[in-house]
Amino acid sequence: MRILYVVAEAAPFAKVGGLADVAYGLPRALRALGHDVRVILPRYRAIDGSAYGLRPLRPPFPVPVGLTGEARMVEAEISEATGVPTYFIWDEHYFGRDEVYGYPDDPQRFVFFCRAVLAFIHHFDERPDVLHGNDWHTGFLFLWLATAGRRDRFYRPIATVFTIHNMAYQGITGDALLAFGGIHEHVGRLEVEPPGHVNWLARGIAHADAVNTVSPRYAQEILTPEFGFGLEPLLQRRADRLFGILNGLDPEAWDPRSDPALAARFDAGTLERRAENKRAAQQAFGLPLREEIPLLAFVGRLIEQKGADLLLETADALFAREVQVAVLGTGMPEYEAAFAEWPSRFPGQAGVQLAFDENLARLLYGGADVFLMPSKFEPCGLGQMIAMRYGALPLVHAVGGLADTVRDVTQEDGTGFVFTPFAGEAFLATLDRALALYRNPAAWRAVQRRAMAQDFSWAASARAYEDLYRRAIAWHNP
Ligand code: GLC
Repeated sequence: MRILYVVAEAAPFAKVGGLADVAYGLPRALRALGHDVRVILPRYRAIDGSAYGLRPLRPPFPVPVGLTGEARMVEAEISEATGVPTYFIWDEHYFGRDEVYGYPDDPQRFVFFCRAVLAFIHHFDERPDVLHGNDWHTGFLFLWLATAGRRDRFYRPIATVFTIHNMAYQGITGDALLAFGGIHEHVGRLEVEPPGHVNWLARGIAHADAVNTVSPRYAQEILTPEFGFGLEPLLQRRADRLFGILNGLDPEAWDPRSDPALAARFDAGTLERRAENKRAAQQAFGLPLREEIPLLAFVGRLIEQKGADLLLETADALFAREVQVAVLGTGMPEYEAAFAEWPSRFPGQAGVQLAFDENLARLLYGGADVFLMPSKFEPCGLGQMIAMRYGALPLVHAVGGLADTVRDVTQEDGTGFVFTPFAGEAFLATLDRALALYRNPAAWRAVQRRAMAQDFSWAASARAYEDLYRRAIAWHNP
């Protein structure tokens, strides 16, 4: 199949969150299955063209904007650095900026990107069998293909798949952007859209041939008001087209046997070598070098989704235990300020680095004893999978991808610690279970080995996507 994977960020070119890792791993795995996959994203200014061998595709091509048929000339570039042909759309006004997201005109920027993708495939004759868009940034594609595109012989055959990586970000904007995108006809409001507004996440859900989220559990959860962020009525209406496919993990990019960021490399047979990484991590976080004290790590964005408030609320009780905690991440200023106080409030026990630092993250995966991921909700989550592969036992809230990837040690073949409900007491009670197991080194090692043996490679996910693409094609051409 010819698949065009449309996304706002993709590793290694532009990375804000887990979406970028998926946009790297999945296309490669699909190519390994023999499909002709290409990726397309905006060329942000921060992308270093020479590092990835970006070459311009000439000549620049016109992208129609507005209803009058006026056009902006846009450049396209290509890189083969990842083994998957990756196209970039360059427009100085919309993408000549330092960050990927966070601008007041983000909805317009991504509508423009989508409009450019549609013009690109026509201009360069790159029509895919399946157009696979991700998150609200690509929602316009699905509306356009379902309206204007349906009357056009070039676009009509394209089947579509929309992947939701997070219900919390929806891209709600005024409906003037419809005209900007060149949608002439009257477009009826969706039941979940406020009058005069468009919700781009909802448009992807409403118009794609098939929709999926990044874990089976999250696909169920978002049908409920607690996790649907207001879109549950629409999701329920489309439930027969809604699937859950767990993300994979790139086994080469995350391998404790060869990771150069580790102080000591190891495998399931040399777990004692993790002690060296623990020492290096303690040093890096200004913690006393004590092997016998359990080292807990939190790596991730300091936002509500990730359970930052739960950690802050339970801090006194948490540090009343004999533990060390290392926190690595950036996020909401309020949370950053609160975590920044931890080292002075809990001296010798808390180490905090308000940074996005992949090498330090790897050291924590390879040296921490327990990996904390108390997310309030988690569509899939990558940290818990990496932690298992590196022998740091995950302690997670029983939601979404966390529930789908971590089995509590009270079950047969347990790989970590799972708590519910989302409350301080449940979190602390589960932490106490972890600390009790930690005092039994043989039992702890056995769980570590089991966690490290889990197979989260992309191959199984890629086969599930292959299946989803086939269904989308069948639904598109009944
Ligand atoms: C979003 C979700 C996360 C998921 C990632 C990739 O960042 O919050 O759970 O792992 O997308 O799908």
